[in-house]
Amino acid sequence: MAFPHDISVPDALHGPRVLLRPLGLDDAAELLAAIHESRGHLTPWLPWVRHVHTIADAQAFVARTRTRWRRRTDLAMGIFARNGGHLLGGCTLHPHDWSLRTFEIGYWLRSTATGRGHAAETVQVLTRFAFEGLKANRVEIRVDPRNAKSRAVPERLGFVYEGTLRRSAPGANGEPADRMIFALIPDDYRRLDWP
Ligand SMILES: CC(C)(COP(=O)(O)OP(=O)(O)OC[C@H]1O[C@@H](n2cnc3c(N)ncnc32)[C@H](O)[C@@H]1OP(=O)(O)O)[C@@H](O)C(=O)NCCC(=O)NCCS
Repeated sequence: MAFPHDISVPDALHGPRVLLRPLGLDDAAELLAAIHESRGHLTPWLPWVRHVHTIADAQAFVARTRTRWRRRTDLAMGIFARNGGHLLGGCTLHPHDWSLRTFEIGYWLRSTATGRGHAAETVQVLTRFAFEGLKANRVEIRVDPRNAKSRAVPERLGFVYEGTLRRSAPGANGEPADRMIFALIPDDYRRLDWP
C-alpha cells in the first residue's frame, strides 16, 4: 500500500542528545569521513558500506536515501549530535507495510561515537515516533546473532525476542545468515519505563 497521506513525517526528530534528520548532499563529505573512519566495524554488518569509497559514491548514497524519503519507502536519517551538530551515524525507519503500520529500525554509528548510548537513544526516538506519530502496530529490529553490539541495543531497551529466522538474510559475503527478531507491539511499548 502507498504511504497514507493523512500521516505527516516531521523534518527532524530529537532525543536528549541526538537529532535525526534526512541527510542532504552537503552532508556527503562528513558521511564519507565517518565511513572511512569506521570501515572495519561497519563492513561485517552493513554490505552497502563496501560500495562507498569516493565523494561521488557518498553523494549517490545520499541522493538514493532522499528519493526513498520522498516516496516514503524508507525513512533514512543521519544521527547528529545536538551539541555540536556533527554526524554520529545513521538510522532507518523502514515501513514493512503502511496499511498494517509495521516498521523495522536499523542503525549504525561511526567508531568514535560508540559506547555512549547514542544507538539506544536513536532507537528510542524512532520507536516513540513510530508508535505515537505513525500509530505503529509493530516495530521490529533484526540482528545477526553474531553481532553482539547490535543485539545488545534491543535487549537493553526491553524489546521482546521473538525467535530466530535461520538462514533468512544475506551475511556480509552474501552467504545465508540467521536473523534474531526483536519487536514491540503497542501493549509492550506502553509497559516500558523509558524516560
Ligand atoms: C550496533 C552499534 C550501533 C552499537 O553501538 P553501541 O555504541 O555499542 O550502542 P549504544 O550507542 O547504545 O551504546 C551502548 C554502550 O554505551 C554505554 N553507555 C555509556 N553511556 C550511556 C548512556 N548514557 N546511555 C546508554 N548507554 C551508555 C553502554 O553501557 C554500552 O556500553 P557497552 O557496549 O560497553 O555495554 C555499533 O556497534 C555499530 O555501528 N555497529 C556496526 C553497524 C551495525 O552492526 N548495525 C546494526 C545492524 S543490525
